[in-house]
Amino acid sequence: MKIIIKEDSGAFDREGALFMSRQALRKPDTCFGLATGETTRNIYTITAELHKDLNIDYSLCKTCNLDEYVGISGNDRRSCRYRINETLLNKINIKPENTYVPDGLCDPIEKELTVFRERIESFGGIDLLVLGIGNNGHVAFNEPGTPFDSTFRLASLAGNTRRDKADFFGGYDEVPELGITMGIGDIMMSREILLVAKGQNKADAIKRIIHGHIDVDLPASIVKVHPNLTILLDREAASLL
Ligand code: GLP
Repeated sequence: MKIIIKEDSGAFDREGALFMSRQALRKPDTCFGLATGETTRNIYTITAELHKDLNIDYSLCKTCNLDEYVGISGNDRRSCRYRINETLLNKINIKPENTYVPDGLCDPIEKELTVFRERIESFGGIDLLVLGIGNNGHVAFNEPGTPFDSTFRLASLAGNTRRDKADFFGGYDEVPELGITMGIGDIMMSREILLVAKGQNKADAIKRIIHGHIDVDLPASIVKVHPNLTILLDREAASLL
């Protein structure tokens, strides 16, 4: 496990973007696994800028998002599909058919679980997974208590996760109760993981991941056993280490 601590949020964003850009240069047909959220937003924006400025080629790359909210459309500004398109995919030369985000409106939604698994398999598995964490240590929509061998499934969002997302969604009741997500077992199958966390509200989870035991009540703690893990933090997220 390698830990990188950056002085401020800007340096953190640049480091994350360089990490992704190096991967695209090293392996032009990389399959990226992508978390959406505030933590990764500027990493993706800068990755897209580097693509433009340095001509980094994504024409053979693939992307697969980790999760999506159930019940909202990919055209909704709050969906993971909309956000990943806006920050990254619409700004790089990736082929739309080489990108996948689960369809939160699929009816019945269970059908999308098979599509999710098949798309990742057809992309050849994930080379680099950019993984965010929730304040409670969740990864994707795998909330505390989720078994480490869990796989693609529908998951209920914890109350504190919905509270964290309330402002973004325009109120607690607006936050969907269900997500479609990769399981922790699927996340661990990625060839490399970049775990990213910034801000004081992530500091406690980061301290428990790095100094504590591996525990199902802290889903992100399992990444410690991944053979190819980098943890990227800003000073605030690292403040309790
Ligand atoms: C959501 C997503 C996760 C994401 C996490 C952190 O719950 N399902 O994939 O990593 O939020 O989001 P943020 O970066 O906005 O704190």
